[in-house]
Amino acid sequence: MKHLLSIADLSTEEITSILDTAVSMHEVQHREVKKLPTLRGRTIINFFFEDSTRTRSSFEIAGKWLSADTINLTGKGTSVSKGESLRDTVMTVGAMGVDMIIVRHPASGAPQQIAEWVDCSVVNAGDGTHEHPSQALLDAYTMRHALGGLEGRHVAIVGDLTHSRVLRSNLLCLAKLGAQVTLVAPPTLMPSGIGAWAAADGFNLSYDLDAVLPTVDAVMMLRVQRERMSGGYFPTAKEYAVTYGLTPRRLGLLPEHAVICHPGPMNRGLEISADAADAARSLVLDQVSAGVAVRMSILYHLLAGEGNDQ
Ligand code: NCD
Repeated sequence: MKHLLSIADLSTEEITSILDTAVSMHEVQHREVKKLPTLRGRTIINFFFEDSTRTRSSFEIAGKWLSADTINLTGKGTSVSKGESLRDTVMTVGAMGVDMIIVRHPASGAPQQIAEWVDCSVVNAGDGTHEHPSQALLDAYTMRHALGGLEGRHVAIVGDLTHSRVLRSNLLCLAKLGAQVTLVAPPTLMPSGIGAWAAADGFNLSYDLDAVLPTVDAVMMLRVQRERMSGGYFPTAKEYAVTYGLTPRRLGLLPEHAVICHPGPMNRGLEISADAADAARSLVLDQVSAGVAVRMSILYHLLAGEGNDQ
């Protein structure tokens, strides 16, 4: 494994191996001295062309806890803002001899393209509306831990599906781990062509959140991505919250054991109520905590795993 560009490139065994290694990486978080020597002497560049809080900081923390040297670059403050092309910018960084570029970019497919230009490992930290593989892996880690496994479990993914790269990576990852998935959204936020994909890959579609909630083991609420919306996808925020939000009333529809996930950042009062976000069964902060461990495991697999002595 050299790059992590898409969940589609990972076998079920590789996913399981990343999740299993993350379990031991997670212990580091509770130590006083949070440092393993595993990636000593390796250099990792975090290159984020889009805003991020948790993904960027957790990749940086993951690198630091594994003793790699980590450097953060953004579009602003680099020669990108002087008009340098993406190719020239990443080839410049690659020429410095770094071991890995972790990239977030508004264009779907940018990490794949970068992987063709540079010799080092490339990790996709979210590309446009395409994929966000490390997020799907940390979601799987969190749900697997809470539910005791994902095989045969029912996961509903709800909200702004059209603009969500988290959705696309999760669909692939959950299928490989044997979960049953139902997507719930208003018709305007269902991606075009999703019907054919659902038929081919065996997941379900619904417009009725109330009907789906009593049947789930986990419900994953996705953010309404206003920054990617050019028109009106729903009449008002209030109407969206009432029809597709995880409101206090809908919390009562969930089975007792069912858990709530959200990749963050949350729009409280829109797709998720404060009651749901802060409920005992909400795994939102567990996801953040798992994010560091899973990203440590990803870095380990790409830079120090078997056959990856670079
Ligand atoms: C997601 C992203 O950036 O794709 N957030 C994240 O990485 N935790 C989802 C989102 O922005 O809504």
